[in-house]
Amino acid sequence: MNVNDPFAGLTIEASRRALAAQFKASGIETPDLDARLLIGAALGLDHTRLAAQAARLITTDESKAIASFAQRRMAHEPVARILGHKEFWGLDFELSAATLVPRPDTETVVEAALEFFRSNSGIKPFRIADIGTGSGAILLALLSEFPDATGIGTDISAAALTTAELNARRFGLAGRASFVQCDYAATLSGSFDLIVSNPPYIRSSDIATLDRDVRDHDPHLALDGGTDGLDAYRAIIPQAAALLGPDGVLIVETGHDQSTPVSDLMRAAKLTLPRPPVADLGGIHRAVMGRKAAF
Ligand SMILES: C[S@@+](CC[C@H](N)C(=O)[O-])C[C@H]1O[C@@H](n2cnc3c(N)ncnc32)[C@H](O)[C@@H]1O
Repeated sequence: MNVNDPFAGLTIEASRRALAAQFKASGIETPDLDARLLIGAALGLDHTRLAAQAARLITTDESKAIASFAQRRMAHEPVARILGHKEFWGLDFELSAATLVPRPDTETVVEAALEFFRSNSGIKPFRIADIGTGSGAILLALLSEFPDATGIGTDISAAALTTAELNARRFGLAGRASFVQCDYAATLSGSFDLIVSNPPYIRSSDIATLDRDVRDHDPHLALDGGTDGLDAYRAIIPQAAALLGPDGVLIVETGHDQSTPVSDLMRAAKLTLPRPPVADLGGIHRAVMGRKAAF
């Protein structure tokens, strides 16, 4: 193996194994998957074509491209950041430095909304707001499911909103999605059928202890929930309670120990809790739902 072009002259399969071994030795959690995704991206090959060409030799240019991605991953930059995009709810979201990488756990919020509106037949979310929309993940997933709905996403970060707008155009949803820069829901008006939010909810003192992949690469604005992690809920829940129309629903993502205090904040804002908190695939209470009385 040449140290300058470590993969040149190796087959694709041998490069994949060598890279996975390097990742494993560096303590990266999913070494095989990450090696496959990064080599595929460096070579411009999807999973099927990568497998079909397993015996092909890597060129010098390809080796350089793989080595550059490998170096970034070894420095704990997440694969999604290196690739610049991430799938959420079956949609391929563009990312930027200002956006959180959308997490699979957040799909719990989308699922809870779909289940609520499907099991309460006759009620449809025509007007949706997503507070702290980031890449637009939750809002655009919901608009892709509710073809009659329109939605607005807010964020304090203008750069995040630029990425969210780009994603809305990518998915053909720009005509039904708008975006506004403001402090949570401060400038929204009118009434909404569904308000969703995955706000920053990590305790400030816990940020230093997060995985390097998150701590060093996700924007701190997207993470820091203040001293007890609940600052954003204290702002958003009363705002949402005022913005929901009759029977309207608020669904927020919560951290592992937050469903009880967040439920209390919902009750304090005179929202009823139509169902218990919704657990994610790991069994953690991930989404809390509050409902405004019909009148
Ligand atoms: C945890 S991220 C969620 C992003 C996206 N909704 C998702 O689920 O992937 C929280 C988002 O809230 C935004 N944010 C933080 N403070 C805010 C504030 N005061 N007002 C509006 N948005 C804020 C951040 O910029 C970030 O995009």
